[in-house]
Amino acid sequence: MTGPLLPSRLPIAAAPMAGGPTTTALAAAVAEAGGFPFLAGGYKTPPALAAEIGELRAAGHPFGVNLFVPSADPIDEAAFRAYARQLQPEADRYGLTLSEHPVADDDAWQEKLDLLTQDPADVVSLTFGLPAPSDIAALQGAGTTVLASVTTPAEARQAQAAGVDGLVVQGPQAGGHSATFDADRRIDEMPTAELVKAVRAVTSLPLIAAGGVDGPAAVQTLLAAGAEAVAVGTLLLLADEAGTSPTHRAALSGGTFSETILTRAFTGRPARALRNSFADRHGQHAPTAYPAVHHLTRELRQTASKAGDAGTLHLWAGTGWRSAREAPAAEIIGWLAAPPHTAR
Ligand SMILES: Cc1cc2nc3c(=O)[nH]c(=O)nc-3n(C[C@H](O)[C@H](O)[C@H](O)COP(=O)(O)O)c2cc1C
Repeated sequence: MTGPLLPSRLPIAAAPMAGGPTTTALAAAVAEAGGFPFLAGGYKTPPALAAEIGELRAAGHPFGVNLFVPSADPIDEAAFRAYARQLQPEADRYGLTLSEHPVADDDAWQEKLDLLTQDPADVVSLTFGLPAPSDIAALQGAGTTVLASVTTPAEARQAQAAGVDGLVVQGPQAGGHSATFDADRRIDEMPTAELVKAVRAVTSLPLIAAGGVDGPAAVQTLLAAGAEAVAVGTLLLLADEAGTSPTHRAALSGGTFSETILTRAFTGRPARALRNSFADRHGQHAPTAYPAVHHLTRELRQTASKAGDAGTLHLWAGTGWRSAREAPAAEIIGWLAAPPHTAR
C-alpha cells in the first residue's frame, strides 16, 4: 500500500485521460507494474464505462474511475454564436457546418453515479467541481474512496467540507483540462510542488499530486512536498497500450511543436496542449462555455484527427511532454518509480 488512498505497491498512478488515451489495456498494464490505474469515465456512455469496469475487474486489479462533475454555469449565447461563426472557416475546409446552438449535457452524471454505487470501484475521482455531498456519501456508502481534483487551496477547503476522503492536487503544468472549479479564472504558472505545499497547509487530507512530471526526480520532489502518490498522464500518452490517436502521437514525438499553452480554444475550458495554429488563431476569442464549445468543435477535431491535421486537433500535453517515450507502460512506470538518475 502506498498510503491511505491508493492500494498499490508503487506511489504512481496512471491519471485518467478521457477521449481515447486511457484504455483498459493501459490500466491493466499499469496495475501489473505496481501502479494504480484510473479509468476515464468522462465523455463515455454509461454502458461503455460499465464494460470497461467489468473488463478491469475481471483482471483482478484494484482501480479508480474518474467522473466529470456537471457544471451549472450559464452560457453567454451571443459570445458562443460569435465563436461558432469565427470557427466556421476551419470547418469549411472539411465540408462541415458548425451549429450556433450551444449543446449542454451533464455527461450522464446520475447514470454513472448509479452504476458506481451498484458496481463500486475502489476509488472514484471527481473533476471540474463538486457534486452534492449526498452523491459523495452515496459512493462512500458503497465502499469507495472518493477524491476531488483541486487546483487551489480554496478548492481544497471546499472539497474537504463536502466530505471527500482525499484530493488530487493538479498543478497548472498538467496536460489536458485544468480541473479548476472556475473555468473563467486566470490560471497562473506555479510548480506543482508549491501547490501541494500550499494545499497541505490548509488540509490534512491525503494528497495525490499531478502535473508536469517529466521523470523520476519530479516524482520524488512531489512525494517530498507531501503527496502520498503522483499521477502521471502525459508520460503515458505514447505508451504502447495507450489509445492516443496517431496524429496526437506523431505531434508528441515529431519535431514540429516547441511548447505547450493553456487554452480554451478547443472546449471552452482551460486545457494545456501543444501550441498549434488553431490555438493561436482562436485562443484569444474562445468563450468560457464548457461543454458547449467541446460539442461545437468535436466533429471538426475528430475529422482533423483522421486527416492527420495536427494544426486543428487538441493536442493535450503537459509541460513534461518531451520526456514521453514509446514503450510498454510497465517500463514507463518502473522508470518513474526508480530512484532519480537511474538510466532509462
Ligand atoms: C490527454 C489527456 C486527457 C485527460 N483527461 C482527463 C480526464 O478525463 N479527467 C481528469 O480528471 N483529468 C484528465 N486529464 C488530466 C490528468 O488527469 C492529469 O491531471 C494530468 O495528465 C497530469 O499532468 P501531466 O499530464 O503533466 O502528467 C487529462 C490529461 C491528458 C494529457
